[in-house]
Amino acid sequence: MSRADLTLLPEWQALQQHCNLLETRHLRELFAADPKRGERLVAEATGLYLDYSKQRVDDEALRLLRALAEARGLKGRIAAMFRGERINSTENRAVLHVALRAPRGEKILVDGHDVVPDVHDVLDRMAAFADQVRGGAWKGHSGKAMRNVVSIGIGGSDLGPVMAYEALRDCSRRDMTFRFVSNVDGTDFAEAVRDLDAAETLFIICSKTFTTLETLSNAHAARAWCVEALGDERAVAKHFVAVSTAAAEVEKFGIDTKQMFGFWDWVGGRYSMDSAIGLSTMIAIGPDRFHDMLAGFHAMDEHFRSAPFDKNLPVLMGLIGLWNANFLDAATVAVLPYEQYLKRFPAYLQQLTMESNGKHVTLDGAHVDYATGPIYWGEPGTNGQHSFYQLIHQGTRLVPCDFIGFGQTLNPVPALHADGKPGGDQHDLLIANLIAQGEALAFGKTAEEVRAEGTPEALVPHRSFEGNRPSTTILAERLTPFALGSLIALYEHSVFVQGAIWDIDSFDQWGVELGKQLARTTIAELTAATEPKLAHDSSTNALIRRYRALRDG
Ligand code: F6P
Repeated sequence: MSRADLTLLPEWQALQQHCNLLETRHLRELFAADPKRGERLVAEATGLYLDYSKQRVDDEALRLLRALAEARGLKGRIAAMFRGERINSTENRAVLHVALRAPRGEKILVDGHDVVPDVHDVLDRMAAFADQVRGGAWKGHSGKAMRNVVSIGIGGSDLGPVMAYEALRDCSRRDMTFRFVSNVDGTDFAEAVRDLDAAETLFIICSKTFTTLETLSNAHAARAWCVEALGDERAVAKHFVAVSTAAAEVEKFGIDTKQMFGFWDWVGGRYSMDSAIGLSTMIAIGPDRFHDMLAGFHAMDEHFRSAPFDKNLPVLMGLIGLWNANFLDAATVAVLPYEQYLKRFPAYLQQLTMESNGKHVTLDGAHVDYATGPIYWGEPGTNGQHSFYQLIHQGTRLVPCDFIGFGQTLNPVPALHADGKPGGDQHDLLIANLIAQGEALAFGKTAEEVRAEGTPEALVPHRSFEGNRPSTTILAERLTPFALGSLIALYEHSVFVQGAIWDIDSFDQWGVELGKQLARTTIAELTAATEPKLAHDSSTNALIRRYRALRDG
């Protein structure tokens, strides 16, 4: 049997049959039949509490899902990743983001070479540099200390640093300004630097390959802006550092490789925020807190590697996600952090999940006949409640939700209730909303309940809620660097679990190539002095002509 034949496995077919049975049972019924369900269908590790009792699973579904994971060799796949095997087969690379957070002294071999000392060498160099910048010892071309850090990168060389900066802003250097530039739209760069003094601005150019069009364009714009403001080409030496795996390209750009922080081809872009790509994070929060974040990642790595599947948070989350995608036909997952500092977390997860598992062929190239990675999206609560939650509650599509919240706020604000009376903290209001949303989605409100409130009959269908809408709730004590690291690793590994079962390469990203290639041809056609001979389809030809006409007036 080819590995593509996932749906022919007895475990898969048993799951399908069980799903047909379970589909007839509402979450209300499952909770009524098992008064301890809300305490039983939970798991806890590394300070994260995962409540999956409001997912549409029962013990048998969970058992079958674990059996499916066993049948697909998940344990072996996890071990192969940690052993540094080349599990990214289409790029023939090891996948070792776990080595980026391995403590000093641990041993992880890639082709017989222990990479952990290399990782710590770079972390040490980053820490020395971060301390110099934070302490004012790193001086710019005109002798001033750096007060602004502008990180330029895109995709995995941007989304992690932006998300982490926003998430950990509370413990960041408030007297420094951090900006992030990713879009090739010149507005992104222009707005990022418009109020900055070049003499106090450090640019970190982040690019694994150092050939990415967007990043190189923005890096050139930054160099021109800096040199013009400071009046000297030599300013580049004091105002630019690079983070890359490609020393030759960095040199070609004009940054001395002594000012380059390296990483390795076994770190995927979307898994790189705790490599040197996190340099801006380290400058913002300091090396000690950066190490706390790495410890959070590592704690989840160890849990993932060693915990039995029925208590393993990433395995449970991955399996339940697969159940929702493949058996309940849910096309999306909404990620809803009830924590303002996590406002960029959904955007970060979009690359992590969709660039990883948005694949339609198996490792040996066969077309899959099952759904793979769902669409991730989301917004912080409570904002989403006043926008798209309507569809989640009463629409025709099933949208499983991940609610994320913390026991303690980083910004206590005394609450004033609707009746004008003070009491508690706004954080209680925030988390009351999180808890209430999960409850409303699961249990809904029956027509009888709506009628009993005296609702006119014509409005009963409009005001009834079917419920039975699945969600997972993740709670932690406080949004610390450690908690953030654990939370990210939880999602990273749940993506791994699903990719292993779907038998796809979660670590390549060929899908972004075609658009990039075509853009190269199109750029030449847009910038040619006179309209070139166009050989695209009629729509593309017409768009090129219309753009040229609009631009040229
Ligand atoms: O979008 C494709 C991609 O290769 C991502 O995987 C990566 O994170 C991003 O581009 C940036 O690449 P680089 O770090 O090489 O500039």
